[in-house]
Amino acid sequence: MDYKIETQNLNLYYGKFQALRNVNCGVEVNRITALIGPSGCGKSTFLRCLNRMNDIIPGVKTEGRVIINGKDIYAPGTDLISLRKKIGMVFQRPNPFPLSVRDNVTYGLKIHNLTVQQDWDRIVEESLRNTWLWEELKDNLKKDARLLPLDQQQRLCLARIVATKPEIILLDEPCSTLDPIATEKLEELMRKN
Ligand SMILES: Nc1ncnc2c1ncn2[C@@H]1O[C@H](COP(=O)(O)OP(=O)(O)OP(=O)(O)O)[C@@H](O)[C@H]1O
Ligand SMILES: [Mg+2]
Repeated sequence: MDYKIETQNLNLYYGKFQALRNVNCGVEVNRITALIGPSGCGKSTFLRCLNRMNDIIPGVKTEGRVIINGKDIYAPGTDLISLRKKIGMVFQRPNPFPLSVRDNVTYGLKIHNLTVQQDWDRIVEESLRNTWLWEELKDNLKKDARLLPLDQQQRLCLARIVATKPEIILLDEPCSTLDPIATEKLEELMRKN
């Protein structure tokens, strides 16, 4: 079986505390895969291993292998910027950048130099349509994203990710601040993309 993501004997320590112990699992391509477990069992920690976001936490030690597209992402020489472009992440609390709605969506395109500027209008519209935000925000593209209601902020974070067309999207309880209707929209979006 060829997995899109595979972990082999993955261990993670925060200092002396071991948060992940021998995690061996495989995630198939083009699937929505959910992690379920009690608070503190290591779900967020595990997700952050998959795009090496734990690297930025001081005192973290990771052992084992995380193989994505057949390559160990912990091998020396891994390009973290292109890794995180391939693997987008949405967090529990929305974290829009202190920029306008439009600049949030184009942020990834800009830093990864993905398209020419002439395409941005089209991609902004497409990404906001994909997250059901276009009708709600098309007249407010210059508004500071931090002033939006939480559910719009969270869908904007997803629009920002979707705009760069990542291969994998890691969602860390992205609906915990959303009401059931917004949650349903987000779930529908996952099935669509
Ligand atoms: N930066 C950190 N430094 C030290 N310990 C940490 C750190 N982050 C998480 N932990 C510990 O690692 C363990 C796993 O935490 P993690 O946040 O991954 O769990 P979780 O399953 O996502 O929980 P929740 O459902 O509450 O989000 C917990 O015991 C937590 O206290
Ligand atoms: Mg968590």
